[in-house]
Amino acid sequence: MNIDVFVTRAIPAVGIERLRAAGLEVQIHPGAPDDSPSREQILAGAQRAGVLLSLLTEPIDAGMLEAMPRLLGIANYAVGHDNIDLEAATRLGIPVSNTPGVLTESTADLTWALLLAVARRIVPGDAVMRAGRFRRWGPQLLLGQDVGPGCDGRRRTLGIVGMGRIGSAVARRACGFEMDVLAHDGQDKVAASGTARWASMDELLRKSDFVTLHVPLTTRTRHLIGAPELAIMKPGAFLVNTSRGAVVDECALVEALQRRQIAGAALDVYEHEPATAPGLTELDNVVLLPHLGSATDDTRARMATMAADNAVAMRRGEVAQHCVNPAVYGSAPYRHRLAAAPAAPDPVP
Ligand code: DGY
Repeated sequence: MNIDVFVTRAIPAVGIERLRAAGLEVQIHPGAPDDSPSREQILAGAQRAGVLLSLLTEPIDAGMLEAMPRLLGIANYAVGHDNIDLEAATRLGIPVSNTPGVLTESTADLTWALLLAVARRIVPGDAVMRAGRFRRWGPQLLLGQDVGPGCDGRRRTLGIVGMGRIGSAVARRACGFEMDVLAHDGQDKVAASGTARWASMDELLRKSDFVTLHVPLTTRTRHLIGAPELAIMKPGAFLVNTSRGAVVDECALVEALQRRQIAGAALDVYEHEPATAPGLTELDNVVLLPHLGSATDDTRARMATMAADNAVAMRRGEVAQHCVNPAVYGSAPYRHRLAAAPAAPDPVP
């Protein structure tokens, strides 16, 4: 080990400063900010380091983890950690941490921005203005759908799949729009939120005017929304996804949107990010963003300090506060790693 922390891509400076203030030797992969290092580059960096600070864009598979026998931990700069083979990391005694909580409100805000944008045709409206095509107000110009109770007084139904931190924050915001909120998750969790009524997936999909996804990507949630689920949604319904792209079968979604089987979709995440399914970007009933859920100055800075604090703890052989596989700390493979590691440097006075 000749560096303490290898960072796969630049994160906000406040995080790097925190690592250096802890006395750690830090190396940031020297690529362009939007270029991920290759598998070989990640391996080479991590093999020389005590801790790997990774981004969600870097897949860390079992083969890579097996080739990192001295690693003391991986601090992921994201709340999601589906880019890391957690099962293999746990088996090999490698703690993995994430950045929960700090991005809840920003992601919930962005979910609502997308929902409103797709329902009220904000993006085509902006395009009309920029192209100088706004000749005069007209009764049929860019008609959308109401989100709150419209002139008909009908309360719209919001269906939330996943009532964790972000799903619950989305539900709280729905009160202002006087919506009926259905949620699919553990019944206790939904009841505890006090903002939604539990529904089966089937009921939620059939009754909701807006369906929004807030589940982590796991083997159980991959393609949770595919052709059969899209087929039972209301024809006037909208799908919003700010979770992980692969929760939706994106090709099935494009087909459903092309056939106007549902009214529209607003996506922040993609199944094969940054690529999009063929035909998606040609559709006029979608709003598409480049994975901006947590993209505010404050949130990204808080994620950086949190990831850095986790990395410092890992390098010192302490329990990282946001470890997602804490059982590793008592394991023999972890104890071997720690015993082989040189002592962590002292903080900068
Ligand atoms: C996460 O943290 O998982 C988001 O997708 C990006 O901030």
